[in-house]
Amino acid sequence: MKLARHIANLGYGTRREVLAMFADARITDVAGARLYADDVAPHASIRIDGEALDAPPGFVAMLHKPVGHTCSLRDAGRLVHDLLPPRWRRRKPLVSMVGRLDRDTSGLLLLTDDGQLLHRIISPRAGVAKTYQVQLARDLRGDEAPLFASGRLMLESETTPLAPADLEVLAPREARLTIREGRYHQVRRMFAATGNHVEALHRSAVGRLTLGELAPGAWRLLDADEIARIFDG
Ligand code: URA
Repeated sequence: MKLARHIANLGYGTRREVLAMFADARITDVAGARLYADDVAPHASIRIDGEALDAPPGFVAMLHKPVGHTCSLRDAGRLVHDLLPPRWRRRKPLVSMVGRLDRDTSGLLLLTDDGQLLHRIISPRAGVAKTYQVQLARDLRGDEAPLFASGRLMLESETTPLAPADLEVLAPREARLTIREGRYHQVRRMFAATGNHVEALHRSAVGRLTLGELAPGAWRLLDADEIARIFDG
């Protein structure tokens, strides 16, 4: 693809704005040699004002979503999008969140511009594991693990039972829950179905991918090994 289009698709500006950047000689190769709008060059070799470009198309990133940010573009209040580079909103293909987390849920949120990969991750058939740390308002009753594992739990206003989920009790009011589907407010509703209430919810892993040292509010790109880890476990 010609450079003017490639750079415009990365969200650096309209085609006209990008052409103006070429005219101002702001776009160069790694050695500082001027590049032109109709050139074709490897993504990694392009610099704008001496800076490397944002991630190439087909990227996957993870964000450590803090509590209080909404996964929507339009809500009043703090948005997940405010934590991401503004340029990403103008990229083609679009950058999408892979599923959502509630405003009051923190943890691992994936983002990608790769539509096929997004569908592979959220497809119920893929059954990608999502692991949550759960703090509860009341002590666990003791029968939650077999109930969640049974594949027979029916949530209110649903017509099909939940797929088996794996509950590990960590303390009387603390548990780790792994689910393989993504129904609306699923974890909160599962505990509500047992007469409990989720006080704090944190997604700690997707497949075998974890946040590691990523601080709340921070994001980073994933490499191929990390992307493969999403489908493990
Ligand atoms: N389940 C919930 O209830 N909320 C989330 O954000 C994710 C899973």
